[in-house]
Amino acid sequence: MMMKKELSYFVNLNEFPIHDSDNSKYKKIVQEAREALSLDGCYVLKSIINMEAIYEMQKEASKIENLAHYTTNKVNVYFSKDDPSYPKDHPRRFFMERSNGFVSGDKFPKNSIIKELYYSKILKEFIADCLNVKMYHYADPLASLTINVNKPGDRFSWHYDTNEFTVTMLVQDCDEGGVFQYVPNIRNKEDECYDEVLKLLKGDQTRVKEIKLNEGDLQLFKGRYALHRATRAEGNKTRNLVVFTYTEKENVIGASYRSNELYGKTLDVHNEKRIRSDSLTD
Ligand SMILES: [Fe+2]
Repeated sequence: MMMKKELSYFVNLNEFPIHDSDNSKYKKIVQEAREALSLDGCYVLKSIINMEAIYEMQKEASKIENLAHYTTNKVNVYFSKDDPSYPKDHPRRFFMERSNGFVSGDKFPKNSIIKELYYSKILKEFIADCLNVKMYHYADPLASLTINVNKPGDRFSWHYDTNEFTVTMLVQDCDEGGVFQYVPNIRNKEDECYDEVLKLLKGDQTRVKEIKLNEGDLQLFKGRYALHRATRAEGNKTRNLVVFTYTEKENVIGASYRSNELYGKTLDVHNEKRIRSDSLTD
């Protein structure tokens, strides 16, 4: 995709010279990000996006927020159905209230500036450098670029992401609440760590970390192994969080049941033989 706007329109290149990997500021940021990410899977690039661009993207988000697929239901952290073959006191059988919406990737306007930023190769390469991985845009046309819409009263319960990395950009904050909470590395590639998950679900906050994101921040987050949620949005304003999704493998497509759950539909690609990133439970 051709960039119609200059990168400097979106990104504060003085503080974040993401186009110049030889720049000492660039190197410093990448080093700091890598340290934070290996420690707890989260790093915030504070005020990296110019406010002028944020306001434009805010307007774009407001125009399409009503196209969000809204879900109010009870879900477990895996978005899976109740399975009575597990004991009653098992994380898989622990259901929580979730109420919020997702605008899927297919709903963005043709001349979307949010889309333009997501598909910026320079931004992707910079983020990949921070994460120290080879990275691809998520091939799932619905889940690749989304807006998580939280109207006042909404909340997103504890969950994992299907993909390894997520980059979020808050384009519009709510008045109160909407605090991001996460538990780094609560599970790993080999182990679901059900005991630890159960402790958290029963209210143990010992391992919970908290971040209040601001408009203009980009948050890099490894959500595959960290349970995370946003606290209830309060006040009058809707919280619109743009989610850029990337994967380590090429051509990864999400699970069809999850696509139904989050976006209210599937496409042909979800029903074809899909490439998965690992064997953990979504
Ligand atoms: Fe998430």
